[in-house]
Amino acid sequence: MTPVRVLAVASEVYPIVKTGGLADVAGALPLALKAHGVEMRTLMPGYPDVMRMLGGAGEIRRWPDYFGGPGRLLAGSHGGLDLFVLDVPHLYARPGNPYVTAEGVDWPDNGLRFAALSRIAADIGHGLVPAFVPDVVHAHDWQAGLAPAYLHYDNRPRPGTVMTIHNMAYQGKFAPQLIGTIGLPWDSFNVHGLEYFGGISFLKAGLQLADRITTVSPTYAQEIQSDEGGMGLGGLLRERADVLSGILNGIDIDVWNPRTDPHIAYRFGADDLTFRAANKAVLQQQFNLDSSDEAPLLGVISRLSWQKGLDLLLEAIPTILGDGMQLALLGSGDRDLQDRYQAVARANPGRIGVVIGYDEILAHLIQAGSDALIVPSRFEPCGLTQLYALRYGAVPIVSRVGGLEDTIVDIGEANTSDRDATGFKFAPVTVEALTGTLRKANTAFHNKATWRRLQLSGLATDVSWRNRAGDYAMLYRDLVAARRT
Ligand code: ADP
Ligand code: GLC
Repeated sequence: MTPVRVLAVASEVYPIVKTGGLADVAGALPLALKAHGVEMRTLMPGYPDVMRMLGGAGEIRRWPDYFGGPGRLLAGSHGGLDLFVLDVPHLYARPGNPYVTAEGVDWPDNGLRFAALSRIAADIGHGLVPAFVPDVVHAHDWQAGLAPAYLHYDNRPRPGTVMTIHNMAYQGKFAPQLIGTIGLPWDSFNVHGLEYFGGISFLKAGLQLADRITTVSPTYAQEIQSDEGGMGLGGLLRERADVLSGILNGIDIDVWNPRTDPHIAYRFGADDLTFRAANKAVLQQQFNLDSSDEAPLLGVISRLSWQKGLDLLLEAIPTILGDGMQLALLGSGDRDLQDRYQAVARANPGRIGVVIGYDEILAHLIQAGSDALIVPSRFEPCGLTQLYALRYGAVPIVSRVGGLEDTIVDIGEANTSDRDATGFKFAPVTVEALTGTLRKANTAFHNKATWRRLQLSGLATDVSWRNRAGDYAMLYRDLVAARRT
């Protein structure tokens, strides 16, 4: 197996900085790729948490003026991950969320901040760090979208480039004037380059100019080629369909392992699922829910945004209450949704529990203690919480879109018997379909044998990165070979 060197570029990496699933993927994939002969280093911005956790990182280069202020490139490692860190304090030394101010508004210089990240990625691609000259530069999401663009317009021998879409809804759109300040030629402002409906888009640039495009599930790879799913980029993706593929996400099965998880009250495995009841009791306590083993407890762990369809779940609350179910929701995001969920919890003590915030530890307990995990997304590139749920014996109830379609087997889908079914899927994404499926799941829950079978099939499902990392390794090797000929 010829070793391949890949520079991954990501704006968040678990366990250092995380706002969503991208961090989980960027933190787990490099570890899984080692077994496939891929040496991956990941470039990320030097946010305060990164600088704190990589105290021992060594300086590789220093610039008095990098995009308007002093900057350094550091190399270090954390938990088995090899990292490059772009330390540019005037761009990244800001507290809180990496993308928005404390008021929840995008930082006004986000264009500059993530152009800087992509510029250094391209330079590493050209050999800036002699000890690590990559064969491939792999850009994740819009924040890294200009990396393939810089490499293209630099017009020099270059590594292969891969652009991965984790979410079409975030496209990194800016005014065209930015081109003049980020060192790209003005002729990049055209329909074959950065131009996007009169402005520029970092994601569009990456999709247009990378050698290969991937997204995080096969179904989403199809959906984004439609006008609706493509969110403005469907035409481009149809044109580039020959280089587009969907590779399902895996999860880190060591971080998410109910047998060893330090964050749950009682550890368990497939042979002692009864211990889940003890986790359920603790979860009910933490969410101020009535203590009851008989009431099916529905869990949600999610960003609260239009994508996630949680406004539909609010409308299903009467069904949840009427059918004797409970709800424990952990989430943060849209103000309006936060307020509405808190109001519903206040109105229904003991039955609906809501925690607004971001809490990694509580997320583990919800997976270990809830009977079912609900993901009613309008679109979902892959989705990770349903994969954690499979591993923890929480039966997923999901909408039939994107990666949810690809990762869950509906109870009606397993043809002769429901042996291999792992959960429930509903379509279309409406309140009616959701409530119908909640009722169906409620009935199944009260049939202990059926429910146990669903849980065991979930636990037996391979949700690890093992095979999926192999698909990335193959993609990198194909790309390297194709560029040699
Ligand atoms: P997305 O990336 O679209 O938010 P994913 O399902 O791919 O959706 O990944 C979400 C990740 O973020 C999961 O690891 C999930 O457990 C975590 N997560 C989401 N919201 C919260 C929260 N409020 N508290 C803790 N973890 C959360
Ligand atoms: C995005 C998507 C989610 C996916 C994650 C990791 O945030 O919304 O579906 O699982 O990226 O790829």
